[in-house]
Amino acid sequence: MFLRCFACDARYGDEPTLYTCRTCTSPLEVNYTDTEFRRAGNFEGQGVWRYQSILPVKRLVTLGEGGTGLHPCDRVGRDLGIPKLFVKNEGENPTGSFKDRGMTVGIALARKVGAKAVACASTGNTSASMAAYAARAGLTALVLLPAGKVALGKLSQAIAHGAKIAQIDGNFDDAMRLVVELSLEERSVYLLNSINAYRLEGQKTLAFEVCEALGDAPDALVLPMGNAGNISAIWKGFNEWKRLGRIKRLPRMIGVQAEKAAPIARAWRERRAFRTIEDPETIATAIRIGAPVSHQKALAALEESRGEAGTVTDREILDAQRYLARTEGLFVEPASAVPIAYLRKHRLKGARTVVCVTTGHGLKDPDALRTAPVKMHRIKPTLAALRKVLEG
Ligand SMILES: Cc1ncc(COP(=O)(O)O)c(C=O)c1O
Ligand SMILES: [Zn+2]
Repeated sequence: MFLRCFACDARYGDEPTLYTCRTCTSPLEVNYTDTEFRRAGNFEGQGVWRYQSILPVKRLVTLGEGGTGLHPCDRVGRDLGIPKLFVKNEGENPTGSFKDRGMTVGIALARKVGAKAVACASTGNTSASMAAYAARAGLTALVLLPAGKVALGKLSQAIAHGAKIAQIDGNFDDAMRLVVELSLEERSVYLLNSINAYRLEGQKTLAFEVCEALGDAPDALVLPMGNAGNISAIWKGFNEWKRLGRIKRLPRMIGVQAEKAAPIARAWRERRAFRTIEDPETIATAIRIGAPVSHQKALAALEESRGEAGTVTDREILDAQRYLARTEGLFVEPASAVPIAYLRKHRLKGARTVVCVTTGHGLKDPDALRTAPVKMHRIKPTLAALRKVLEG
């Protein structure tokens, strides 16, 4: 196993505390040798650790992450003209988001390098996940959050698990800069953001699960992009599954952002160099990010997979959230409704089998539902009054 710089191809050994390239400061990628690939196999059990033989560390701390449902959504599929539409519902993970796949791996690395504390900047879900896994591992957790911009459910999780919480007067990107600085100065603090290539290894397992469940890769996989760690990890997963000879083809990767927080989609659409956005804004706070750490990896995934990037508005996000909940019984947070919102606007040509990744549970962000009028009935406790509600 070795680390490779995604931008300049510099190589490093197995160094879990090396977060970025020493030459050009770009993100790194965990790579495996041919021998390691030949030894991979023996996939047993369920969830992330089923794939231990192609993960960078042994299982040390688990809450039962991965193994989430891949739900056929025929009704939505019919509406959208997609013959086989599935939702991979990551809200079914232990802390309610896909971050748990990465965190179970990342926290094992933290233990391995002898860290005393783990830290992350977060729009909410990373902090919720890290706080839980740190508690389980007996490590101190420090989370940096943009003040006032973290959904209530996620904040409650960080509080419940006893994390030290720093609310930053600034946005996620400011918090990110600060926590990277801290982890470079304080070597006993292990950084668990998605810039950490080892953590991303856990997230690639979603691709393995999808391929195993479908017996092949889908035609397209649609997911929200924030920092773009997840799209990078999942694309890497599909490629590794192919290298293992388990699938013959690769899916198109479709990355979607919120209209006013869309630096990657903009670079893609306008075919020009990537530029950060100063003041990203969206109701989908999970993806309210203007300077995505993994933009190079994401743009490569879009390009190599002949995929596409696009945007949706906040209104479209909230409509899609309700639509999915009412049509298929799947309640996801606003950021996770972004793929459905996108498919309601855009046809994917020639895509018969499509997987949407819903990244986090709807209960994470109860306030999001208050943006539209809610009809509830206050009645006297009589059967007549109740009948009126039923018939109304
Ligand atoms: C619910 C949810 N969806 C999507 C994302 C975006 O993932 P990534 O930053 O890996 O692109 C996040 C990140 O915080 C998230 O919490
Ligand atoms: Zn480099």
